Amino acid sequence: MEQTKAVPKIKALRLNTVRIFTLASTILLSMVITVMCIGFLMRYEVDSEVSSIEDISYWRDGLPPEQQLWFDEAIKELKAALNKNWRLQPARNAIVFVTSGIDTETMAAARALLANGTKPQPALSWERFPHIGRLKNSCSNTDLCDPFTVASAILNGVRPRFRVGGLDSSVSFRDCVAALNESHHVKSLLEQAQEIGLRTGLVTTRRVTSAGMAALYARTPNTAWECDTALPLAAAAAGCTDTARQLIESRTGRNVNVIMGGGRQTLVSDVPNSAHDPVDESVCNSQDKRNLISDWQLLNVKLRRKFAVLQNQDDLRELNGTNVNHIMGIFANNYLPQRKSQSDQRRQSPKLADMTMKALQVLKRQSNGYLLIVETGVKSTASVAEQTDMLSHLSDVVQQTVAKISEDDTLALVLFTNGNYVRDAVESSAETDAETNVFDFTEGSAPAIEEWLSNMATEALIYARGPRSYLLHGVHEETYMSYVLSYALQMGHFKSDTAAKGKPK
Ligand SMILES: *[C@@H]1O[C@H](CO)[C@@H](O)[C@H](O)[C@H]1NC(C)=O
Ligand SMILES: *[C@@H]1O[C@H](CO)[C@@H](O)[C@H](O)[C@H]1NC(C)=O
Ligand SMILES: *[C@@H]1O[C@H](CO)[C@@H](O)[C@H](O)[C@H]1NC(C)=O
Repeated sequence: MEQTKAVPKIKALRLNTVRIFTLASTILLSMVITVMCIGFLMRYEVDSEVSSIEDISYWRDGLPPEQQLWFDEAIKELKAALNKNWRLQPARNAIVFVTSGIDTETMAAARALLANGTKPQPALSWERFPHIGRLKNSCSNTDLCDPFTVASAILNGVRPRFRVGGLDSSVSFRDCVAALNESHHVKSLLEQAQEIGLRTGLVTTRRVTSAGMAALYARTPNTAWECDTALPLAAAAAGCTDTARQLIESRTGRNVNVIMGGGRQTLVSDVPNSAHDPVDESVCNSQDKRNLISDWQLLNVKLRRKFAVLQNQDDLRELNGTNVNHIMGIFANNYLPQRKSQSDQRRQSPKLADMTMKALQVLKRQSNGYLLIVETGVKSTASVAEQTDMLSHLSDVVQQTVAKISEDDTLALVLFTNGNYVRDAVESSAETDAETNVFDFTEGSAPAIEEWLSNMATEALIYARGPRSYLLHGVHEETYMSYVLSYALQMGHFKSDTAAKGKPK
C-alpha cells in the first residue's frame, strides 16, 4: 500500500523543473541570510567581549568617603562577576568539605565576631568561591531523617528510608535479607571514584565510623549498628555486619587511601578511658575483642602496600606522605577535640588542617586524580564561641587547601548543613531496637510543634569553585550535589569509555 502511493509522488517531483528551481533559489537565499546573521553575531560577540574585559566606566565624582567605601567594594565584586571564568572542562580531582551543625545565622555571627568591627567584613575563605547552591531539606514530620540517611542522600545521590544507610528505599529498617541484595545497593561517590582509578580519602574530626563517613563505604538497614555491641545476634546471624567492620572488610573501605579521624572505641575493644581521651559511653563501644586497626595493618602487609598507621600528632607530623599509598590515622576514642586554641593536655590529637594537608600529599602521589572528603562539625549544644572557633579554623583549612590546588583541575565544594537531625530523640537500645520518642506531629501541642520546627535542620548551602562548579547555581534537590560530582569527575553514570584511567590503587 505505502509503496504504490510513494511512486507517483517521486515522479511528480522529478518532472516538475519549476519546483526544483524554486527550491534551489530558496536554499540560496537562506544561505545568504545565514551568512549575514553569523556576521552580525560575530560583530556583537566581539563588541560584548570588549566591553566585559575593559574596565567598567563609571562616575564617582564628589562621592563622600562614607559612600565611596561601599561603591569601591561593589565595583570590585562587579568586576569579579563580569570576568568569571566558567571552567566548563571536567575535573581531575575533587575535594568536598562537609560541615554539620552550622546554618546561615551561625555563619553571619561568626563572620561578625571574626571581623571585630572591620567594615566591610572580611570574607570567610569559601565566601570568595564564585558559585553557590542550596539543597532542599527533605526531612519533615512524615519523612524523618537521621544523619546517616541524610549523608547517604547528599553524598551518594539516593535517599534511603529513615535509619537505613547506603541502600535504596526498597530496603526496610532492620531488613538484613533485603540489605544483602545487591540490586538495592547504591554506588557511593567513593566507590565510583575507585572504579575509575581515582585515589580516595576520608578525613574527619568525628569518628571514622560515624554517619557522615560511613555513608561513603557502608550499607546498613539500621544506622545504629555502628559496632559489635549495637548489632543484635539475630542481625549478625542474618548476615548483617556492623559499620566499623565494613570499613575494614568492604571492598570500598579496604581500598580507601586515607582514613583519618577519631573513633578508636568502635574499631578496637576495651580501649583505655582517660580524661584527655574519654570513651563516650553514649555511642558504640566495642567489646568483642576486636582490633580492626591491626586487622587493617595485616591486610596491608598481605597486599604488600606502602602504608602507615598513625596514632597521634607526632606520628602525623613525622610521616612523609609522599612515601605511602595508604594511611590509617585514628587519633581519639571518640571525636577529636577541635578548638583552635587547644589546651596542652589535648595537643596529642592533630588539627583538621594537619590531617587535610597530609592527606593531600598521599592522594597527589603518582595519581590519576583523587576524591577527598573532609568532615567536621559542631554539636547542637555548641556555644557561639565554639562555633566561631570551628568556622575560623575551617576557613584557614579551606584557604590552605585552595592554595595547594589548581582552580582549573580541582573542584572544591564546601557544604554546610544545620544537620541536627532527630537522631538524638530516637537513639535506641541494641536489645529492643525500638523506635522511641519519635515526635508525633498529630498529637503535639502548639508549643511542642513550634519547638520541633525550630530544631528542624535548615537547608544545606554549598560553596563551589573549580571545573563545572557553576552547576551549583540555585535551589536543588538534596541528592543533586552527588550527581554534580559524578558529572564533573566523569564517573558513575557519567563514566567516559574512552578515558580509562587505570586500576584502583
Ligand atoms: C578587636 O578590636 C579591638 C579594638 O578595635 C581591640 O582592642 C581588640 O584587641 C580586637 N580583638 C581581636 C580579637 O582582634
Ligand atoms: C533482589 O531484588 C530483586 C529486585 O527486587 C529481586 O528480583 C530478586 O529476587 C532479589 N534477590 C534475592 C536473592 O532476593
Ligand atoms: C619525602 O620523601 C621524598 C621521596 O622519598 C623526598 O624527596 C622528600 O624530600 C621527603 N620530604 C621530607 C619533608 O622529608
